[in-house]
Amino acid sequence: MKNGLDDVVATETMLSDVDGLGGILIIRGHSLDELAGIVTYEELLALLLADAFEDKLDAGTLRREISLARQDVFRALPDAGAPLLRLPVTDAVRALTAQFEDGDDLATALRLIAAPAVFTPAVIRLKQGKAAVAPDPALGHAADILHMLHDRSISAGEAAALDTYLVTVSDHGMNASTFAARVVASTHAGLVSSVLAAFGALKGPLHGGAPGPVLDMLDAIGTPENAESWLEKALDNGERLMGFGHRIYRVRDPRADALMQALRRLAGSGDHGAGRFKLAESVEAAALRILARRKPDRPLKTNVEFYTALLLETLGFPRESFTSVFAMGRVGGWIAHAREQTQHGRLIRPQSRYTGPRPIKAA
Ligand code: ACO
Repeated sequence: MKNGLDDVVATETMLSDVDGLGGILIIRGHSLDELAGIVTYEELLALLLADAFEDKLDAGTLRREISLARQDVFRALPDAGAPLLRLPVTDAVRALTAQFEDGDDLATALRLIAAPAVFTPAVIRLKQGKAAVAPDPALGHAADILHMLHDRSISAGEAAALDTYLVTVSDHGMNASTFAARVVASTHAGLVSSVLAAFGALKGPLHGGAPGPVLDMLDAIGTPENAESWLEKALDNGERLMGFGHRIYRVRDPRADALMQALRRLAGSGDHGAGRFKLAESVEAAALRILARRKPDRPLKTNVEFYTALLLETLGFPRESFTSVFAMGRVGGWIAHAREQTQHGRLIRPQSRYTGPRPIKAA
């Protein structure tokens, strides 16, 4: 028995591979550096979903179909006064996604891809007392998400930065949320149920819930000079440093680099939080030094969540929505894995070892 299933191979997949020692992420035959900053999210989906449905999906078709799905999903928004909107953003987006009929077909998949993309900006705005902004069919997925959030025209640089993020987080081996999606898919419950289970798993701070706390940490540290002492104190108090460490990577998470470069490109195209970026670089350097000294036998490096926090903040997403923005990208991976599981897998039903008391036999 392996607590946490470390190193247990639970399935075979054509979708992605994580090399934790080499620091390499492969998505369907392409390393991340051939994809991030190069392809759009729709192009990435065409790759991930190539064998998922009977229809052959090219990026152009997907762009059109997802745009239609965004309009369809927008019509499912509740009124501004709906009690559901009192929930935190991620919980509200998950609850809104649950309204759709379950199924294993392409239409259900398209609706699920559109759901976090439409509901997240709408819920953010409605909670702020603003009107939700309808999707614009002329825009690509990433540009439209930012347009629905900010209600203004979006620069090519901003759209490219969000595309880079969505592509970078789209799939990542047998992470906790993808495993949850596959377990549910293995019961043939349908894609909506699989995606909702995955969404729940993603929310925890040990998985996709870390970037909000990364910003809390940067706010608490305040200036580069405070980094060392603040981090030492946090570790003395038994806390974990958010944005560092990973179950699989023993080297720097390649996704952290992809996002750092996206942030640099964005910063280069205007005054996008240069001071914040400097603070983050100092905090990262101090954290890596301290973790290496304190845990010499356990390499703890920067993970994807550290630069996710900065990129999403720069793009104007409030921190309480970060997990839901993560879901906008990872939903493609969840659907691809769920379909792969139903097509080729069988019911996932492991064993447990009982450690409780045994009944006392009657004499
Ligand atoms: N800060 C300080 N110490 C850490 C950290 C950290 N970020 N991560 C691990 N450690 C320590 C643990 O306390 C443990 O120490 P011990 O052996 O003295 O008890 C040792 O390193 C090994 O930790 P594990 O819990 O075995 O590592 P695991 O593989 O389970 O954890 C995880 C991976 C959950 C990501 C962990 O590194 C962590 O909590 N990081 C902070 C939260 C975070 O950044 N989450 C996002 C992950 S990326 C993603 O899922 C998209």
